[in-house]
Amino acid sequence: MARIESEIGTPKGGFMKWIDDRFPFTETMKAHATEYYASKNFNIWYIFGVLATVVLVIQLVTGIFLTMNYKPSSAEAFASVEYIMRDVEWGWLIRYMHSTGASFFFIIVYLHMFRAMLYGSYKKPRELIWIIGMLIFFVLMAEAFAGYLLPWGQMSYWGAQVIISLFGAIPFVGETLVEYIRGDYSISDITLNRFFALHVVALPLALIALVFVHIVALHHVGSNNPDGIEIKYHKGPDGIPFDGVAFHPYHTSKDLVYIIAFLMVFSFVMFFAPEMGGYFLEHANFEPANTMATPEHIAPVWYFTPFYAILRAVPNKLWGAILMAGAVLLPLFLPWLDRCRVKSIRYRGWIYKSALGIFAISFLVLGWLGVQPAEGKYVLMARIFSVLYFGFFLLMPYYTAIDKTKPVPDRVVYHG
Ligand code: HEM
Repeated sequence: MARIESEIGTPKGGFMKWIDDRFPFTETMKAHATEYYASKNFNIWYIFGVLATVVLVIQLVTGIFLTMNYKPSSAEAFASVEYIMRDVEWGWLIRYMHSTGASFFFIIVYLHMFRAMLYGSYKKPRELIWIIGMLIFFVLMAEAFAGYLLPWGQMSYWGAQVIISLFGAIPFVGETLVEYIRGDYSISDITLNRFFALHVVALPLALIALVFVHIVALHHVGSNNPDGIEIKYHKGPDGIPFDGVAFHPYHTSKDLVYIIAFLMVFSFVMFFAPEMGGYFLEHANFEPANTMATPEHIAPVWYFTPFYAILRAVPNKLWGAILMAGAVLLPLFLPWLDRCRVKSIRYRGWIYKSALGIFAISFLVLGWLGVQPAEGKYVLMARIFSVLYFGFFLLMPYYTAIDKTKPVPDRVVYHG
């Protein structure tokens, strides 16, 4: 009697065939690595997506080990972090990897986003990659905010107090919403517990899912490149783009060098400057939360300070909150605000180049202003740079439409 191959166990062709008959492993590897063709002219700006993935893994793994020893209760949280730092074997290393990782995550993601602005990667047909990226950014902010409450230090407590109370400025529903977020009449054990649940379960799950969709969307349309030219329009008879090289092994082997260099920088900061002068771990957070005494200056961690500076630049609490939310949300609309026909900055005119430069400077200066006291010249500066920040986005439909562009070459320009 003839036997059907699938009924007799392992078919001829070995282990890989056995797997492939049951799961599209080789097919997936081909589609996303060995036969995924990305432009050969990628430069250093193209490394940040990979590095963001590396840091995501670091955060997930160290987070799991921290959770094994952390106690999510207002009575024990602070002491449990001290216990991790002093008594748990390698606990200090795991905690510093996680806290340094949080700051590096934002450095990398900000550079990754800036790359998209340099090369018009948010433009057609990559609008969805950008939008999913922005959703990742929002979840990442929520993740960092929830995580910062967990050590239950002075800044954890008062930082959360300031930001959560902002929702109270919303007319009619504000106060109810604040209570709903805190789960109590003040920030308490209950708040800590729900932030813990969000930080270790809900938000990481959302992040992983969004990063997966981000990559699927990217591989569907193909990566952009520093010339902003679609390589898929110039294919050889074999169907392979002339200007593309296989992601694996060509890009992966180059990426590995960057990953090692990154891990060296990361280790240097982690071993020699984990607090980064109070920017990565704020000094006030080495004191346990005291509900009766506010720290002298309440400032969020550096990655939130550009938005915090915008909040404080406005005298009215509601308008401050609206403008801060607007500053975070505006980049979402970049694909439609930018009316230039050309993607890459290499072929754009002086107007966009200057506007992007002013935007980058405004963002950095606002970040610095966010840690200065909200008084005198600092407030004035925050107002000026907030106007420049918003101007970049709101005037974009006009200046990108009139900006003189250079002719874009047919094929990518490769400087080997
Ligand atoms: C956890 C955070 C993130 C991870 C792990 C991640 C991962 C990646 C990876 C691996 C790539 C391909 C490599 C590269 O082009 O650099 C990529 C591309 C891209 N990402 Fe992200 N990303 C993240 C966040 C974001 C954010 C916040 C945005 C923007 C709001 C964004 C926008 C983009 C865009 C537009 C591309 C296509 C770039 C191009 O082809 O030129 N990503 N991302």
